[in-house]
Order: sequence, then structure tokens, then C-alpha cells
Amino acid sequence: MNPARVAACCAGAIALLGTAVANAQTISRGEVIATTCYTCHGTRGVSPSTIPSIDFIPPERIIEILKAYKSGQRYSTIMGRHASAYTDEEIVEAANYLGSLQKKGK
Ligand code: HEC
Repeated sequence: MNPARVAACCAGAIALLGTAVANAQTISRGEVIATTCYTCHGTRGVSPSTIPSIDFIPPERIIEILKAYKSGQRYSTIMGRHASAYTDEEIVEAANYLGSLQKKGK
């Protein structure tokens, strides 16, 4: 391969890597945690299955519910285990991220 091509190729790869790093920095911890909810509750909390949708629940209520699952105060099959993996601070960040989607009308 001619050296100019090699240089062009590497420059492209480095530019791509730069973009990936820049994007990673703009994703908040709340968003990262919220995306774990999508596996069961559907993208942005709109569920395609019998698992309840959570897209319309106000963030304050999501925080209350998740803390109740975590403490065992609210019965669950799955949510207690999932919620107990997060600190109260992480629950607040995820709930606020989900709430911000509602405000954007997404
Ligand atoms: C492994 C699947 C799974 C994941 C991941 C998951 N959930 Fe759940 N969620 C459930 C199920 C199932 C229920 C019904 C209660 C139960 O049996 O656990 C539920 C119930 C809920 C409820 C109560 C809804 C209602 O109408 O009663 C809320 C709120 C909720 N989840 C929020 C979340 C949030 C926020 C996340 C991400 C941090 C999350 N869930 C991740 C499966 C999941």
C-alpha cells in the first residue's frame, strides 16, 4: 500500500476514535443507567411487552418506587434485585434522565 494511503487511513481511524470519545463524554451517568431499564421496559420506557411502561411516570414517583423495591417495602419479582444494584444517587440520576425525556416530548 502506498504511504499516503496508509496515512489517510490512520487519520480517518483517529478522527473516528476522537468522535467516539467525545460522544462518551456527553452521555450522563443517568442516561447510561436509564438505558439498562430499556431492556425490559422498552426504549425510553415505552414497553412492547407485558412489563409495564414507565415513560409517563414522573421522576419523583420513579425514585419512590425504586427505593421501595430496593428496601423490599414494595413486592417485586425482578425490580428489587435490579434497584438494589444502584445507590440512591444513581436512582435519582436515572429517574431525572427519564423525566427529561418526558419534558422533551420524546
Ligand atoms: C430485567 C427486567 C427489568 C429491568 C432491567 C428493569 N425493570 Fe423495572 N420492572 C420490571 C418488572 C418485571 C416490573 C414489575 C414488578 C416486578 O415484578 O419486578 C417492573 C416494574 C417497574 C416499575 C413500576 C411500574 C408500575 O407501573 O408499577 C418501575 C417504576 C420500574 N420498573 C422502573 C425501572 C427502572 C427505572 C429501571 C432501570 C433502572 C428498570 N425498571 C429496570 C422489569 C425490569
